[in-house]
Amino acid sequence: MDLDREKQLVADAAAELVEDGMRVGLGTGTTVTHLLAALARRAPEVVYVASSPRTEQAARALGLLVEPFDHLDRLDLVIDGADQVAPDGWLIKGGGGAHTREKVVVAAADAFVVIVDSTKLVDALAAPVPLELLSFGLRATLRRLAAATLRDAARTPDGGVLADWHGALGDPGALATYLSAMPGVVEHGLVPPDAVTRVLVGRGDSTTSMTPGGAS
Ligand code: A5P
Repeated sequence: MDLDREKQLVADAAAELVEDGMRVGLGTGTTVTHLLAALARRAPEVVYVASSPRTEQAARALGLLVEPFDHLDRLDLVIDGADQVAPDGWLIKGGGGAHTREKVVVAAADAFVVIVDSTKLVDALAAPVPLELLSFGLRATLRRLAAATLRDAARTPDGGVLADWHGALGDPGALATYLSAMPGVVEHGLVPPDAVTRVLVGRGDSTTSMTPGGAS
């Protein structure tokens, strides 16, 4: 299985969705790295917002126009990868630790297109679920979460501490509600189907499109 090829295919397909005049959010990760190159080749006249310093630097190095996200209040489209995609459209994001900003960008967008290679499709989401935690009261938050461990990683650009939740993941909606309600949890990596417009999946030499809750 040539995963790079699959990432390239979905990145190219997603880049075709970007039209002149759009405001476009860029995710983070290896699949998005392919997307940046595809966008640089197509060169549509758009303004980009990046979900991480890593993406911002890479996009600027390719000549893409990246604006700080305090200048725009809505976006037309966000394109990003994911760590796991369930058949019902639930996602896990944040393997790269960028999920808080990624979710802020997605929340501002009219459409969210997810680009993944075929290994990201799962029958059911499974731990770990990435977390960003407030450093204030960190030990107490970890004690209440019980099933979470700190990640050996640098602080996020917003000063947060990265961790992963390792408990049983039966009902993603219930877990998302539980984690969102926990003081000290800045953000978790669960993304519900209603936030997702379309999932582009690279499989071998082709790309398939999946609409959460709908037909392929
Ligand atoms: C970044 O924190 C993540 O949400 C990524 O979007 C996710 O891990 C997918 O990354 P890859 O494209 O590298 O698999």
